[in-house]
Amino acid sequence: MSSSLFDLTGQFALITGASRGLGQYLGRALANAGADLIVTSRRKDDLQPFVAEIEALGRRAIPFALDVRDLQSIEAMAAEAYASAGRIDILVNNAGCNVRKPALEVTWDDWNLILDTNLRGAFFVAQQIAKYMVPAGYGRIINIGSVTSVAGYAGLGPYGASRGGIRQLTMSLADDWGKHGVTVNCLAPGWFETAQNRVMYQDKEWVEYLKERIPLKRPGSPNDLDGAVVFLASESSRYVTGQTLLVDGGISTGAMRATLKKPTERI
Ligand SMILES: NC(=O)c1ccc[n+]([C@@H]2O[C@H](COP(=O)([O-])OP(=O)(O)OC[C@H]3O[C@@H](n4cnc5c(N)ncnc54)[C@H](OP(=O)(O)O)[C@@H]3O)[C@@H](O)[C@H]2O)c1
Repeated sequence: MSSSLFDLTGQFALITGASRGLGQYLGRALANAGADLIVTSRRKDDLQPFVAEIEALGRRAIPFALDVRDLQSIEAMAAEAYASAGRIDILVNNAGCNVRKPALEVTWDDWNLILDTNLRGAFFVAQQIAKYMVPAGYGRIINIGSVTSVAGYAGLGPYGASRGGIRQLTMSLADDWGKHGVTVNCLAPGWFETAQNRVMYQDKEWVEYLKERIPLKRPGSPNDLDGAVVFLASESSRYVTGQTLLVDGGISTGAMRATLKKPTERI
């Protein structure tokens, strides 16, 4: 098998929400595979440490301000990014947010914040970038989903709706743009500790419970998404579109203990 199947040299990858967390994990993996990056955050200054890190690898990293809840901001970022880079081969639609609340306490504004950011924002970023990919006849769009794209959790109703929506949107956009050489897939991480969920990981009892539920018996580590994102961004996935790839240690299996702790007679 040729290593060119996973080589991104000469390509530009745009990663939204690259000021921290998974956006940086994903961008780092693409840069290590050879890609130059366009990175975004609502505050361009917040991107400077990551830009310096990527440039130290010998790659370009061009920062832009972007608020995915603002259509004008999306349109301006897309036009300026394309003008600066001259091409956009890969989009990682990663910007997102969460509000953890029992369903009875969710407000109208909570719902709008989550759905506007995670679903409407992802659609319009994809649309504005596809305007360049479609005429080029090539593109790789990777929408970030979640284990909640395929499973339900109390306290995550609006978030799960946004992530289930991303999975469906991925399938529809794959059909829209496949004929133009643009693939659209969803990369769905399981549980990774980041700023968005750090409070959960401070509860040791909960961490033990989480590990027990995950077939691979640990939460995700920063490099666990590398292979999947490079696969979906590269030539290697050329005949894969509309799919959701769960990288979650197996928690989406819904696994639970179905045997008693003490060996007993067969039941
Ligand atoms: N961590 C996990 O276990 C996990 C699992 C599955 C899926 N995910 C998803 O993966 C993505 C990244 O998660 P994370 O854990 O890395 O979260 P995070 O640490 O909170 O980072 C979120 C990123 O999204 C950006 N963002 C938030 N609202 C935005 C807006 N309105 N416009 C533009 N950018 C915005 C933030 O940038 P600024 O604040 O700098 O603008 C930040 O860079 C999210 O979509 C999340 O739902 C996370």
